[in-house]
Amino acid sequence: MLKNLFLGALAIGVTGAVGFGVYAYKSPIAAITSDQHGDFEPELVEKGRVLASAGYCATCHTASDGEPYAGNYAMQTGFGTLYSTNLTPAMETGIGSYSAEAFRRAMHEGVDREGRHLFPAFPYDHFTKMTDEDVDAIYAYIMTEVAPIETVQTPNELPFPLDQRFLQAGWKLLFADLGRFEPDSDHSEAWNRGAYLAEGLTHCGACHTPRNALGAEKTSEQYAGAQIDRWSAPALTAANASSVPWTASDFKSYLVKGTTNYHGVAAGPMGPVVHEGVRDLPEDDIDALAIYLADKVGATEDDPAQSEIVLASLRKNQPDPQYRRDLGARLYATACASCHYNTALISQGRPDLGINSATNLDTPNNLIHVILDGMNAPEGISGVVMPGFRDALSDTEITAIAAYLRDKRAGQPAWPNLAETVADLRVNGPAAH
Ligand code: HEC
Ligand code: HEC
Ligand code: HEC
Repeated sequence: MLKNLFLGALAIGVTGAVGFGVYAYKSPIAAITSDQHGDFEPELVEKGRVLASAGYCATCHTASDGEPYAGNYAMQTGFGTLYSTNLTPAMETGIGSYSAEAFRRAMHEGVDREGRHLFPAFPYDHFTKMTDEDVDAIYAYIMTEVAPIETVQTPNELPFPLDQRFLQAGWKLLFADLGRFEPDSDHSEAWNRGAYLAEGLTHCGACHTPRNALGAEKTSEQYAGAQIDRWSAPALTAANASSVPWTASDFKSYLVKGTTNYHGVAAGPMGPVVHEGVRDLPEDDIDALAIYLADKVGATEDDPAQSEIVLASLRKNQPDPQYRRDLGARLYATACASCHYNTALISQGRPDLGINSATNLDTPNNLIHVILDGMNAPEGISGVVMPGFRDALSDTEITAIAAYLRDKRAGQPAWPNLAETVADLRVNGPAAH
């Protein structure tokens, strides 16, 4: 009896494995030659250029010292290091042999032309939501405008069995919700356009949604905030930590300029999202993203609380007569205040640090990164630079400034393990880009 049961279970196991094998098998799609890429209308190519930047294709497919789109950009994951592929139309090592159909399958199903399953470090679990028209426009752009460069692919550093591509089919089955975007009739057209862009092409959730132990986004915690490359990607839900409520126009400003008066500057991994990414989208699309985000965060257009909170924080920004007694206050006054004190400068993009996201988030990482390495023009507001203090301030001094800002200016409970985090980020951050 027991033996039969066991045989039964074995049979089911084998059928399951065969079923999985059938599911996992993807046939190759015939290679094409470079004269079969097609001639595309300039409007389509231009549309594709804008979409490709809003999907950060170049950011992930260009190595730090490499040619644009030629791949080998290193991505550190919890499982090992992966290298992006060559996305130029090179015939041997790029995607020159991809037909439009093969390109669509890669974007929608995460399968390469030869039928191999791709790793989800390539965010096809978001690109799957894109329309065929949008994917085809990106294809037209890459085939027309990107110079073909042959490269040698750096092998991935993944332990066995994670390096086995067919197992990715199982990941897909468990976690990827493959299929095009479906509009939600309870919301406006603009909201749906924003959702289409955010959940698909611009994949905001890839950084702002926490992941499970197997690296898949937790759909039940969409935009709940997550850690990426030792930066904190804040919650884009009602749990957003900003002391000043966001409005739809703040989101618009943040996505176009990388800054708002009251929240902060798009630094770290958010820098390229703005500056190499979404800011080129047509204004209607940025408006749509802002409307969608405002709804997710629960923001209204003009929040009456904004001005009160800002004024209260600016009042705290006055020199404290006792400041010499506290190391953090003293260092802040000498190292930071010349730029960050003066209330009038807020409109010139020197954020008031009491209401800045960096001091209000529940991890100190973003603040510490900025103090250590500053911010340069491509990251923040154009034309202004925040100097780095890596060489000028010791760990103890940075810890003291951060603790002072958190307590006296933001009025928030102390960060646990602050000193350890400063020491860790000085040595281990920022992650290699
Ligand atoms: C977050 C990083 C990231 C972004 C953003 C990204 N990719 Fe990729 N992409 C990868 C990685 C990593 C791979 C390789 C995956 C693998 O080896 O399984 C890849 C593979 C691909 C492939 C398969 C090509 C091949 O030869 O195997 C295509 C096609 C592709 N990406 C297109 C795009 C396009 C188009 C965009 C922009 C809309 C884009 N990718 C944005 C990381 C990214
Ligand atoms: C590559 C990772 C990554 C992607 C993709 C990404 N973000 Fe971010 N985002 C971050 C990080 C990290 C921060 C914190 C930056 C800082 O504080 O300087 C951030 C900050 C933000 C903030 C400021 C929040 C606050 O409370 O201060 C907003 C708003 C935001 N992102 C919206 C978006 C939207 C919308 C998208 C998609 C269009 C997006 N992000 C895509 C990593 C990312
Ligand atoms: C020379 C002027 C100057 C000094 C000195 C300076 N800052 Fe800044 N800081 C800036 C500017 C300008 C920005 C906006 C940068 C941008 O948009 O590129 C900024 C941005 C910031 C941000 C915003 C980061 C974000 O993600 O929103 C923080 C936090 C910050 N500074 C903290 C400090 C601290 C702490 C000190 C002292 C250790 C300091 N700054 C010293 C000019 C300065």
